[in-house]
Order: sequence, then structure tokens, then C-alpha cells
Amino acid sequence: MRMVDLIQKKRNGLELTAEEIRFIIEGYTKDEIPDYQISAWAMAVFFQDMTEQERADLTMAMVESGDTINLSAIEGTKVDKHSTGGVGDTTTLVLAPLVAALDVPVAKMSGRGLGHTGGTIDKLEAIAGFHVELDTEQFTELVNRNKLAVVGQSGNLTPADKKLYALRDVTATVESIPLIASSIMSKKIAAGADAIVLDVKAGAGAFMKTVEEARKLAQAMVNIGNRVGRQTMAVISDMSQPLGHAIGNALEVREAIDTLRGEGPKDLEALCLALGRQMVYLAGKAGTLEEAEELLREAIRSGSALEKFKVFVASQGGDPSIVDDPAKLPQAPYQIEVEAHADGVVSAMTADEIGRAAMLLGAGRATKEAQIDLAVGIVLNKKIGDPVKAGESLATLHASQEQVGEVAELIRAHIQIAGHAEAPPLIYDTIVE
Ligand code: URA
Ligand code: CA
Repeated sequence: MRMVDLIQKKRNGLELTAEEIRFIIEGYTKDEIPDYQISAWAMAVFFQDMTEQERADLTMAMVESGDTINLSAIEGTKVDKHSTGGVGDTTTLVLAPLVAALDVPVAKMSGRGLGHTGGTIDKLEAIAGFHVELDTEQFTELVNRNKLAVVGQSGNLTPADKKLYALRDVTATVESIPLIASSIMSKKIAAGADAIVLDVKAGAGAFMKTVEEARKLAQAMVNIGNRVGRQTMAVISDMSQPLGHAIGNALEVREAIDTLRGEGPKDLEALCLALGRQMVYLAGKAGTLEEAEELLREAIRSGSALEKFKVFVASQGGDPSIVDDPAKLPQAPYQIEVEAHADGVVSAMTADEIGRAAMLLGAGRATKEAQIDLAVGIVLNKKIGDPVKAGESLATLHASQEQVGEVAELIRAHIQIAGHAEAPPLIYDTIVE
């Protein structure tokens, strides 16, 4: 086989076979095919697209390019949730104990990463003593016992995706549905998921800026999952404004605890129920999605979800008393109100810019080496559709210093106030097959 022929075949709009796709991905992983040929191929895919079978084959070729996590020692159907990323997305911290309370095993591998706030592990490390250094045996034992554990990423998962994603970034081939869908799905499958629930975000703070694009990506990923034997469902949710009220590490832990108690922001709770019911259903713990949702509501009402969170925290060395006394979480020394300049209704709140403001306060990393301040962040006091009076607080900044002028201005500039406005829908669509 010659790479040049495969580039030509794709350029001409023909379908590649599984063997040809494996040749490309294996050759690239082993440095036998050069960047310039893969670049040309990626551009051909960008313009000619891929069939459903090609997308599934590409996904599995990337899974096979590196290590895969074997979770077979863990009892039950392991359902993993993936979000395409947004601002103030506290869903993982809520969902993990919530579905574990219904005996759905959550064997979560998580990272730190770059962004407006830290990753799930950074957020959990806001709890004194909490750690994720578990060996495979401890991890397995904890999930079997408690149905929930979180461990740091290890192993060389999907090296082909790492190389290809970096190359796409500099060859204008990131925005391709088949390449994005196979990239995301390969990582979930390599991490050992039996079934997958996807939260595909749409809006200013998301990778997909429109609902139409988000729906295409969601359907592409659901099709891949189902084709390769991992039942997959998706929710398409709004990211025109941040989710919930809190954006920041300790602040989001507190928000998650409130939500597990049934006292959290309504949008965060609604999205957790929409994703959670798919997880519970796919794990075989309910016969219908409606029944699954009722079980989740009961786990919140009865306190079993909150109790699960305490057990989880304590099992990984954390201080569970923060659940009843969240004031023990790291607190920023300064709390500064950003006040509205006019009367009206909040009409827009650009999620990515609010996220950038949180990062400027120190809640997230701009580079891998950057340090995170776990205490700082933003609490939104208004969301789109809320009435506001001049002088009222739009947001509270939790800051490490008193001088935050630039950040306050950034937030004020990106929260618009108009005569009237309505809250956007939270969930645009769900895809179950
Ligand atoms: N996120 C991924 O993991 N892969 C892509 O290709 C795009 C976004
Ligand atoms: Ca939030």
C-alpha cells in the first residue's frame, strides 16, 4: 500500500477500507508516514467527509494505536460521560456520586488540562487531603466497594490522536466532524467505557458555536459508538452562558454539594438529570429513561447521593466534613461585587469571555506549567432573562487581591442588559440512537 494512493482515493471522494485506514494510522503512529502526507489526507477528509463505516474504522484504529484500560475487574456496565467542554461545567462532580448512589459503577480517569478552571481532579483537590494517586488494584477495589473512584490519567492512550490533533491544529483541519468525532470517541473507548453519554455543548463558550453543528457532531459520535459495540447517547445543551452560578475550583465543589442536596442552580440540576438518566438507563439500572430520572430525583431527595459523595471523598483521603461545612473549603481573601450600570433584563452573557475572566483571576491554567489558585473564581448572581436594577450585583469575584479592575470591566462588558430578554433553552435536543 502507498500513502499517496490513499490520499488520492480520499481526494476523489471514495471510501477507504478498514485495512487502508489502519495502514494510515499505524504508519503515522510509528513515524513511517510523514506529516505532509497526513496533512494532505486530513484536508481531503475535511472536504470529502467520511462514511459512517470509515468513521468507526478510524476510531478503532486510533484506539489500537496505544494502551487501552481494561476495566473488566470492575463489576457492572461502566458508563462514562464526556462533555465537549464549557464554562463552569460542574456536571461531573454532581453526576459521579449521583449515579453511583444508584449502583452505576463510575471508574473515572480524569485530567488537569488547560482552561478557564482546572479539570475534575483540580476541583476535587480543593478538598483538603483528597488525592488521586491510586494503583490499579486500589482503584478497582474502591469502585467495586463504593461504585465510585477517580484516578489520574496514566498509560499511553491513543497516541495517534495526540499526533493527529496537533497536526490538525496547524493545518486548518480541526473543524471536521469525522475527525472530531473519532478523536473524542477513541479516547473514551481506550479508557475502558462499555457505554458512553455525551454532553455536546452549543454556543459562544463551546467548541461548536451553533446548535446545528453540535447536533451533527453528537449524531456522528452516537453512530460511531453504536457501530463499535458501545451504546452511546447524547444531550445537546446550551453554552451561550456559563452553566450554574459558580466558575472556579472550590466554588464549583460547593455548587456540586448544593446540587446533590437539591439546592443547586436549576440549570445545573436539570442538565445533570438529563445526562444522568441516560447513564442509569445504559447501565441497565432502569427500564426506561423516565424511570431512571425518577430514581435520580429520589437519590437527591433521600440524601443517598450526598452520602455517596462523603464516602467517596473520605475513601480518597479527603475531609468529608466539608460537605456539611463548606466554609472549610479554600476561601479567597477578597469578594468584590460587579454592579450593573443600568436597569433592565440580562440579555446576553458571553460564556467564553466570562471564562477568560475566571482564568485571569487564577482559576485556570493558560499554560501547562501555570499554577491554579483553587479558591478564586466567579459567582454569577444573574443569568440571562433575570431582571436587574442599576447598582445590583451581577457577579461576585472571589479574588486573591483587591485590585481586579480589568477583570471586573471584562465581565461588565460581556453581560448585556436590555429592555427585555428571555432565558435560552438549556437542552436543545437529545439523541438516543
Ligand atoms: N476535542 C477533541 O478531543 N478532539 C478534537 O478533534 C476536537 C476537540
Ligand atoms: Ca458551574
